Amino acid sequence: MKKYLITSALPYVNGLPHLGHLIGCLLPADVYARFLRAKGEDVLFICGTDEHGTPSEVGAAKENMPVEEYCLKYHQLHVQMYEGFNLSFDYFGRTSSEQNKEIVYRIFEKLWQNGLVVEKTTRQVYSPDDGRYLPDSYVIGTCPYCGYEKAKGDQCENCTKVLDPIDLIHPKSAISGSDKVEIRETKHLFLQLPKLEQDLAEWIETKKGVWPDIAYSIAKKWLKEGLQERGITRDLKWGFAVPKEGYEDKVFYVWFDAPIGYIGITKQWADEKPTQRRFEDWWLNPDETIYTEFMGKDNIPFHTISFPATLKGTGENWTQVSMLKGLNYLNFAGGKFSKSEHRGIFLDDAIREFPADYWRYWLIANAPESDDTNFSFDQFAATVNKDLNDVLGNFINRVLKMTATNFGQQIPLLGNPTTTEKELYAALDSLIETYTKHLSQLEYRKAMSVLREIWVAGNNYLAQTEPWKVVKTDTDYAGTILNTALNLIRLYAHLSAPIMPQTAQKMIDIFEYPDNLAWPDAPMSVYLTKLPTGTPFQLIQPLFQKILPDRTAELKMRYKEE
Ligand code: MF3
Ligand code: ZN
Repeated sequence: MKKYLITSALPYVNGLPHLGHLIGCLLPADVYARFLRAKGEDVLFICGTDEHGTPSEVGAAKENMPVEEYCLKYHQLHVQMYEGFNLSFDYFGRTSSEQNKEIVYRIFEKLWQNGLVVEKTTRQVYSPDDGRYLPDSYVIGTCPYCGYEKAKGDQCENCTKVLDPIDLIHPKSAISGSDKVEIRETKHLFLQLPKLEQDLAEWIETKKGVWPDIAYSIAKKWLKEGLQERGITRDLKWGFAVPKEGYEDKVFYVWFDAPIGYIGITKQWADEKPTQRRFEDWWLNPDETIYTEFMGKDNIPFHTISFPATLKGTGENWTQVSMLKGLNYLNFAGGKFSKSEHRGIFLDDAIREFPADYWRYWLIANAPESDDTNFSFDQFAATVNKDLNDVLGNFINRVLKMTATNFGQQIPLLGNPTTTEKELYAALDSLIETYTKHLSQLEYRKAMSVLREIWVAGNNYLAQTEPWKVVKTDTDYAGTILNTALNLIRLYAHLSAPIMPQTAQKMIDIFEYPDNLAWPDAPMSVYLTKLPTGTPFQLIQPLFQKILPDRTAELKMRYKEE
């Protein structure tokens, strides 16, 4: 039987996640995992923190902590925040784990044996005052092209030219500010991507029309420009030691061990959970595994070129990505979310303001799929008020109250469906088919607009049948209408569950009827007749609360929107 492997790009451990991270990969991956599980598929959903590299070292130094402690502290904060948003990882691990080290070494040794790793001498910026080599982006100076004074050694923000730190005029350390920097020669290991180019190009060609255009075209662009040898070691302390003589002071580059982390974290899961399943069942099993990756668009080259090449180079039969979803950015108040500029909404704040499902719904309904998307509290409030409160929430309230008043708190008898019900079944069958298709194809905005239509269909059904009038003349048919409407609540719970898991659970708990929130697998003529007559139900507090203008104004002030 085919099984599904799902990964979300591994968030950097330093710094805390905001709504942009959530919609950029984590949440779409979670919705997909929940959707597939509801359909009864065998799913493994893996994520974790990306921990190695200079930013962690610098962050730890700032907080006066050993880097191991610092990473653990932030790893735990990530875990907490993701729990708050109900992300349903099967395992949330760490790239610094022993298991990842094991896999990194295994892969590296294979690449080495296959002659795909070469040693080269490079010129690097060394800062005696910091006592360390500086990675490119930690050297700042004047851009030789445009004169911008705060250009980073990897790229000039002002004129966007790609730079080499040794080209900067008046270079200095971004860590200490010291300008006593010097150039030193040092050896590094390089992965010979050019040797894998042919193989990679053939594989990527098979993804035409399979991967979304953005992913395929980025991969093609890289191939067209010709692949370069890529450095896989760095002059740092925090990382996996390089197991070769002469490399005692160096570690693997974070972008070498991070994607391998997907595998390492799967092994963490397999070792720690007594499920008797092995990481090889997914990762060395391409014929039975459908592997879907989620990531922000800046990550696409690593996931379509470097990581697949790394796996191919081993000559082993690793599972490669089948489907890949790249997302654009979520902006706020006219710019990217940014901790240093205090712009944006971080997850700990977000969850203090509103329940997770409000955010989850807004984000998925406005996922930055074809372009960057802007977040604004006005839009957020409008969506929550209209879609969630007026359309879905009110439907549920009206149906429960009307039934309780006229029939007591139990499911009334379902009579023979009339043409009206049959039309409703047919309309829903087709909407659900479309909705399911969009979710399978990872088209979130489209999926959400169909889900809204499905909710609206319930309201229209009530408007059309007017059970509050019918009950005075034809109790039997009024019972049939409300029975159908109560079954719609159950259906809505099922269809909304991947996006709003907590709300869906509340909806299903209305009924004293066992239910595992499985995906609808029968036509509506059958599905909407499932709740047995006489099943007790509860009246509940409204599921959603409107966000009033005062509150919106206050939020805009607090988060400096505008
Ligand atoms: N940490 C990276 C980022 O946030 C993503 C790493 S994805 C991985 O952009 F595959 F390399 F882990
Ligand atoms: Zn410049």
